[in-house]
Amino acid sequence: MSENEGDEGIEVPEDSPVIKKLMELDGVGEATALRLYENDYTSYESLSIASAEELSAATGLSVAMCHKIINSAREKLNIQIITADDLEKMVQNRGKITTGSSALDDLLGGGVPVGEVTEFYGEGGSGKTQLAIQLAVNVMLPKEKGGLDGNPFIIDSEKTFNPKRFREVAAAAGLDPDEALKRTRVYVARATDDQMATVEKILMDPDNTIKAWNTKLVVVDSVIGFFRSSKQFQGREHLADRQQKLNRHLHDLTNLADVYNIAVVVTNQIMSRPDVFFGNPNTSAGGNIMMHGPNNRINLRRSKGGLRIAHLVDSSYLPEGEAVFEITPQGIRDPKK
Ligand SMILES: Nc1ncnc2c1ncn2[C@@H]1O[C@H](COP(=O)(O)OP(=O)(O)OP(=O)(O)O)[C@@H](O)[C@H]1O
Ligand SMILES: [Mg+2]
Repeated sequence: MSENEGDEGIEVPEDSPVIKKLMELDGVGEATALRLYENDYTSYESLSIASAEELSAATGLSVAMCHKIINSAREKLNIQIITADDLEKMVQNRGKITTGSSALDDLLGGGVPVGEVTEFYGEGGSGKTQLAIQLAVNVMLPKEKGGLDGNPFIIDSEKTFNPKRFREVAAAAGLDPDEALKRTRVYVARATDDQMATVEKILMDPDNTIKAWNTKLVVVDSVIGFFRSSKQFQGREHLADRQQKLNRHLHDLTNLADVYNIAVVVTNQIMSRPDVFFGNPNTSAGGNIMMHGPNNRINLRRSKGGLRIAHLVDSSYLPEGEAVFEITPQGIRDPKK
């Protein structure tokens, strides 16, 4: 037994690889490892994004001890200060998922990037779910075909995930549809808390989710639906509570993209703003929180002849612009000339 905090009298499953890994952290003995484990801090990643106060509240360990554990986890993950030119190379080398349309890929700087949250928002029928399906299919493609050799995880909060349509798009992309469906994880969320808890679970248990499934894309279709419709948030007095929860959810999604280097795509409805007289009166739902959460925000709208227009409204590094694409029986494509 070591002299670490709270080590007395707790039986430890010696053969657990998770416990062994946790014990490699500075100042973590068997009982402390067990305490972390029992509170779902089972990976260096989940510890690296926890705050010392939050970890202390969950585990009962002192805040100072939690600081030490978190720093040690961050060191293990090689989270460090780097030079700006290394950062530039990292951003340039980031994987991208093709959308199926070269015009839309160009608008996004080469496709939907890993490490970031990308939001597609627009009216009903504008193509948000179709795009989500296409990206879920394309992430499975090899890198030379615009994929990431990875698998998708879809959180469906609108019960609109359609396996039949998924098969069509997968077959058109050259994948075996049975195989593609087997590689795709779907979670049908039934409420706000359910949706939030699913993202938290992935964050806290990456070994059994992201790593075990080779997840390279997480889709939330749609991200705001429950926040808008749920009875728990009806009425002005609950607005602050709602925005706070939404903020936390987006923060979790940003961490998911950033810490595990995967692409996160969220869809969002538009909210009509009759009080806006200039510019686009249709803004995405969620107010300020959505304005600042995602790294890239794209508005989709219907155009003539069944075409769709994508407008990159906001990105931290790409210029504003537009691209035209088409939804075909095979999926998202450049418009036929
Ligand atoms: N097999 C297909 N062939 C051609 N176009 C299709 C096919 N399936 C769907 N579409 C097009 O996609 C549109 C539906 O788009 P999608 O479901 O992505 O909209 P959405 O933006 O998700 O809407 P909502 O907000 O209602 O969820 C249809 O109106 C149709 O134009
Ligand atoms: Mg949809």
